[in-house]
Amino acid sequence: MSIPYVFKEAIESLKNLPRSQYHDIISNEEQEIVSKIESEGYRKLGSGTSRLVFLLNNNEVVKIPRPKTENYNGVADNKKEYKQYQKSNTEQKKLLAPVHKVGSNYQWLVMEKSPQIRGHESEITDAFFDQCENANIDLLGDMVGWNVGYIPSNNQDCLIDYGHEVL
Ligand SMILES: Nc1ncnc2c1ncn2[C@@H]1O[C@H](COP(=O)(O)OP(=O)(O)O)[C@@H](O)[C@H]1O
Ligand SMILES: [Mg+2]
Repeated sequence: MSIPYVFKEAIESLKNLPRSQYHDIISNEEQEIVSKIESEGYRKLGSGTSRLVFLLNNNEVVKIPRPKTENYNGVADNKKEYKQYQKSNTEQKKLLAPVHKVGSNYQWLVMEKSPQIRGHESEITDAFFDQCENANIDLLGDMVGWNVGYIPSNNQDCLIDYGHEVL
């Protein structure tokens, strides 16, 4: 199982593109690639410092790397996310959005879609923080905003961005 060709083209084009000096802002050059993907019918759901995220189908998203910088590397984050999901125990899996598949060399990653992202940290319940602590999931305090969302298959809130060390 693979992903549509438009993403593969985009992954190649995004390499070596310039980035804004503000790490979370999409450059005009990146936006051109995003628009091309959207013109093929795939809506952008969000972006972070290292990855662009698109709706792939009803219940899955695909994450592709933004141009890499000294500090941000979407391929490395895809790999970290995949590996951590693989090695997580049952209790931890309940708190991590499932990774469904990855492309060769971690060029892309498919994850279950969250229909409801928690934005500001105040939207995240104490219960979630407690569950993470009990499961030995290390949330780096201020990094959880926009990185937690409701995950239907787990029937609860989960981390949707764990491309950095949490286990
Ligand atoms: N599983 C998901 N379901 C819905 N939206 C998502 C999902 N994963 C990421 N997103 C959206 O895309 C944004 C960027 O994804 P993220 O994995 O946080 O990238 P980065 O590693 O660059 O921070 C998130 O803040 C969120 O808005
Ligand atoms: Mg993020």
